Amino acid sequence: MKPTRIEACAHWVEKRFPLSKLWNDHMAQYYAPKNFNFWYFFGSLALLVLVNQFITGILLTMNYKPDAKLAFDSVEYIMRDVDWGWLVRYMHSTGASAFFIVVYLHMFRGLMYGSFKQPRELIWTFGMLIFVCLMAEAFMGYLLPWGQMSYWGAQVIISLFSAIPVIGDDLSLWIRGDYVISDATLNRFFAFHVIAVPLVLIMLVFLHIVALHEVGSNNPDGIEIKQSKDPWGHPVDGIPFHPYYSVKDIVGVAVFMLFFATIIFYMPEMGGYFLEHANFIPADPLKTPEHIAPVWYFTPFYAILRAVPDKFAGVIAMGGSIVVLFLLPWLDRSPVKSIRYRGGMFKKALVLFVISFLALGYLGTQPATYGAVIAARIFTAIYFGFFLLMPLYTQWEKTKPVPKSVTMQPSLEERLPAIKATFEEMLTKKEVETADGRVVTQIRPNSAGIIAVLTRFAKNLKASLE
Ligand code: HEM
Repeated sequence: MKPTRIEACAHWVEKRFPLSKLWNDHMAQYYAPKNFNFWYFFGSLALLVLVNQFITGILLTMNYKPDAKLAFDSVEYIMRDVDWGWLVRYMHSTGASAFFIVVYLHMFRGLMYGSFKQPRELIWTFGMLIFVCLMAEAFMGYLLPWGQMSYWGAQVIISLFSAIPVIGDDLSLWIRGDYVISDATLNRFFAFHVIAVPLVLIMLVFLHIVALHEVGSNNPDGIEIKQSKDPWGHPVDGIPFHPYYSVKDIVGVAVFMLFFATIIFYMPEMGGYFLEHANFIPADPLKTPEHIAPVWYFTPFYAILRAVPDKFAGVIAMGGSIVVLFLLPWLDRSPVKSIRYRGGMFKKALVLFVISFLALGYLGTQPATYGAVIAARIFTAIYFGFFLLMPLYTQWEKTKPVPKSVTMQPSLEERLPAIKATFEEMLTKKEVETADGRVVTQIRPNSAGIIAVLTRFAKNLKASLE
């Protein structure tokens, strides 16, 4: 039979480019563990947010002016006069925070399931380089609206470099391109934000995925699925990425978009956390804002910086808090990967780490009062303790035997009746008659039910830590 035009076209491409080979190797014949849970949505969501940032960023660049005299007004022009400009801007600013939420959850999944451990050290290392680039990208992007917080935030962070002995002052002068933050700084930050760092980011994401597809994904049980294969050479515990996970990821995308759209349309500033109030005032080099705080995603590291009394030592501690994350694959000496089979010590250490990270995040948004600084010191010690004591407690603790094959946990659908019952336990329903004679159901919180649920939750948490 004569091939159709489409088939002939596909054949023409196939002879010149390995399209179907790429598709099979990375999608249709790429086997992923069959026990992925919702924590595995965040990688594809990070890709989605990356694409969102690129598209909205390109659109913003069409009307933004990287000039100290025009930048603030050009952003206002985008918000008020450019068709759909407000939407594009809010998608980009909310996208920045969404990126960090998604990436922090993605990294936390790695911590829980030991995804950084052998043989995935390079996936983790590329991930950490992505994280550093992402911080640089967000920091430079924040200067562009040329608001008060853009200006003074950059002033504080760049002046940190001057704490470095001998070269510090020259270094911060070199970064700014001037003695103060100025038009020169804005221009170079614009160049880095729109082209240099995004190129590096794309390259790193590509390397991250190449490294991932070389060794294959980890999973919530921390079992290497490539070790047991069926007679056709496919992992017994694996399923083809396409269509199983390509379709499943759409569920994650839909839920994410629901939250994303709600924030964009109803609370784009997120109470000053996503867009700080002081940034709606044009940058004024002669007027320092009363309270300078970075955007929420930097605050844990900012709190560590402020926790140390000496400026240079603070910079080292802040840098160290990121460097130590790079070292994770070599600090963890546990024979098992997943938290499911680790001992109580790791679980408790992880809970303490999460508490300290959140607490530092909160303290970084607050003025540096005496109490806040003391608290930040305690949480900084816990933060570093988690990593630096890891070689010890991961060796000391007794781990559980890891099963030969992956285990299947109840799905969300199966859990729904229990979740519904829990909500019902925490609420009371009462029929009441309104003034106009209608009977309506009044739903109120039930304190006894809430206490019972919280007590159960605490007991379960305690049992799982033991
Ligand atoms: C732009 C940012 C990023 C993108 C687009 C991205 C993308 C992905 C994707 C698509 C996957 C496979 C799906 C999944 O496991 O969720 C993945 C896996 C992974 N990522 Fe990322 N990632 C990013 C940042 C990071 C960061 C910052 C880290 C950690 C420092 C990291 C560490 C990992 C690890 C360890 C895996 C393997 C997980 C496993 O197999 O259990 N990633 N990433």
